[in-house]
Amino acid sequence: MTATILDGTKVAKRADQVFQETVQELKQHQIIPGLAVILVGDNPASAVYVRNKQRRAEKIGLNYQLFHLPVTVSQDELLELIQRLNQDPQVDGLMVQMPLPAQIDAMVVMNTIAPEKDVDGFSIANVGRLWSGMFGNFPGTPRGIMRLLHEYQVPIAGQHAVVIGRSDIVGKPMAALLLRENATVTIAHSHTRDLRSLTRQADILVVAVGQAGLISGADIKPGAVVVDVGMNRNEAGKLVGDIDFPSVAQVAKMVTPVPGGVGPMTITGLLEQVVTLAQRRVE
Ligand code: GUN
Repeated sequence: MTATILDGTKVAKRADQVFQETVQELKQHQIIPGLAVILVGDNPASAVYVRNKQRRAEKIGLNYQLFHLPVTVSQDELLELIQRLNQDPQVDGLMVQMPLPAQIDAMVVMNTIAPEKDVDGFSIANVGRLWSGMFGNFPGTPRGIMRLLHEYQVPIAGQHAVVIGRSDIVGKPMAALLLRENATVTIAHSHTRDLRSLTRQADILVVAVGQAGLISGADIKPGAVVVDVGMNRNEAGKLVGDIDFPSVAQVAKMVTPVPGGVGPMTITGLLEQVVTLAQRRVE
């Protein structure tokens, strides 16, 4: 078997076209969806993420504002800016790029963002809504992965989904979204005993660990759908995921490549969230 590629680049492009049309419609109601991003300091990876967000946000016609603060900024100054943007009716979505410097408490920052503008879905209010099955804002990466699975009509209800990794950004919200769509969900992590026996049972396997080559073809069930969230550099400096792609592609029914799988869909998840929030201004 050679797996179908879950093509994140293609699906993300198609999603951008849909969002662009929605933004045009909103503009007819004098609404320009707004996304404000706060970047603190000069972390090179964060700078790349923020630049990519800006490019995609502007492509679909959002009013994108970047607030770049020095690495020495105090927590109070940052919170003041968040509070100002919480009040700004032009801002539908607001996010603070992580990581933050040591003088700033990320938990406080996430919970100062108004829950209805918290496009990352990191605040306690939105985490609670996610697990309660309520309407809320949910993190971009799992949101984008769900969109990718839907585009390829992957059945979810009743399927055994195994999520490896329990981060607040990917693993936990991914498990919650799969559960909301009636998958039987197992979360595995670094303390899990006999990981392979679990992964071999998965109809849907999401790998979000950050360890190149963690999963190979022998570790998966024939016909599984495999989603690779990993972003690692191999010895040659090449970007690779958490799975051994060639062997997995021989056994899986569908698989995401790295790059070009989950990566582009993370921003899709964010943009989908911003556009959804702006649409609520019409009602
Ligand atoms: N840093 C890495 N990923 C993310 C993300 O999804 N949101 C924020 N705010 N910071 C990040």
